[in-house]
Amino acid sequence: EKGNYRHFMQKEIFEQPTVVAQTLSSYIRQVSQSVTLPQMDFDLGGINRITIVACGTSYYAGMVAKYWIETFARIPVDIDVASEFRYRDPVLEPGGLSLFISQSGETADTLAALRHCKAEGQTIAVVVNVPTSTMAREADLLLPTYAGPEIGVASTKAFTCQLSVLAALAARLAVLRGRMDRDEEAQVVTHLVEAPARLNAALDHDDEIAQMAHLIAPARDVLYLGRGPDFPLALEGALKLKEISYIHAEGYASGEMKHGPIALIDEAVPVIVLAPSGPLFEKTVSNMQEVRARGGKVVLISDAEGIAEAGEGCIATIEMPRVHPLIAPIVYAVPVQLLAYHVACAKGTDVDQPRNLAKSVTVE
Ligand code: F6R
Repeated sequence: EKGNYRHFMQKEIFEQPTVVAQTLSSYIRQVSQSVTLPQMDFDLGGINRITIVACGTSYYAGMVAKYWIETFARIPVDIDVASEFRYRDPVLEPGGLSLFISQSGETADTLAALRHCKAEGQTIAVVVNVPTSTMAREADLLLPTYAGPEIGVASTKAFTCQLSVLAALAARLAVLRGRMDRDEEAQVVTHLVEAPARLNAALDHDDEIAQMAHLIAPARDVLYLGRGPDFPLALEGALKLKEISYIHAEGYASGEMKHGPIALIDEAVPVIVLAPSGPLFEKTVSNMQEVRARGGKVVLISDAEGIAEAGEGCIATIEMPRVHPLIAPIVYAVPVQLLAYHVACAKGTDVDQPRNLAKSVTVE
């Protein structure tokens, strides 16, 4: 039931601190400050290549995981949307792990890709939210998310729970490969344990984002920009907005703007920039300046430091807590979800049952 919330989507957005904590509790041992995975009967440390396959929001979680696994564990990762993967005759090397991410565990294209990889002799791991699902049953390694039932068609809490599991997986792979020592692992655990509190801090901006939504609701097109592991968040922000508010939105890697999409920029196109402060921040700021020089209206989502440095001249800013790169995408999911939600409310669309969409896509 919805309780005091207007929509399931809103309820599910606000459940995230609880369900992320619930999910992380089975992947973290607080006493030993270590990351742990369920039992498996294959050698995870011996995996030399990972192939990630998923659809929609789950695919964006996979894109974030690619950044994390390659950065922390130095294992090469391929990623595809399931509908493309199945038909392109992918090269699957012996000793590879295929990783499927799905809230429902039933998505037809993802399931077909899983069966293909299994037939090719790959080891199969799945991150799913429904432990009784077909994908869960057919996997060699089940990595459950504990988001609870997700009713809103637009995925929210399943996404942040997927990211939590994938962060733990990336850290565990890094440990097994000798790329992360005990101290670094303990630090990662500390940051992950703090994630629910940071999610709460992000949720505190709900009213402010509801006000801001009136600036976005009249737009015909909206762009989202991000770099590194926050690039998939830009894609996710755009997907959420188009799904429930029917506003055309696109996510781009910040640096890719000048290769085409900048032609779209004028006073009528809001640009949402996701940019935690850090080594890539300066580069994103110069991309923002390119947008502003063409009359574009920028909404900057960053931390206090980033906003102090680059907030001036933006039509709005949303201040996120300062976080470790391993949890930034988890925390930055909240403002993009809330923005899409409030814009949809401002437009009066059916938030929980958007037109043309189904919760589980069990046909090709
Ligand atoms: C987006 C959304 C869809 C799903 C996609 C995959 O809000 O809900 O894009 O993420 O259909 O579904 P699962 O994760 O169940 O395989």
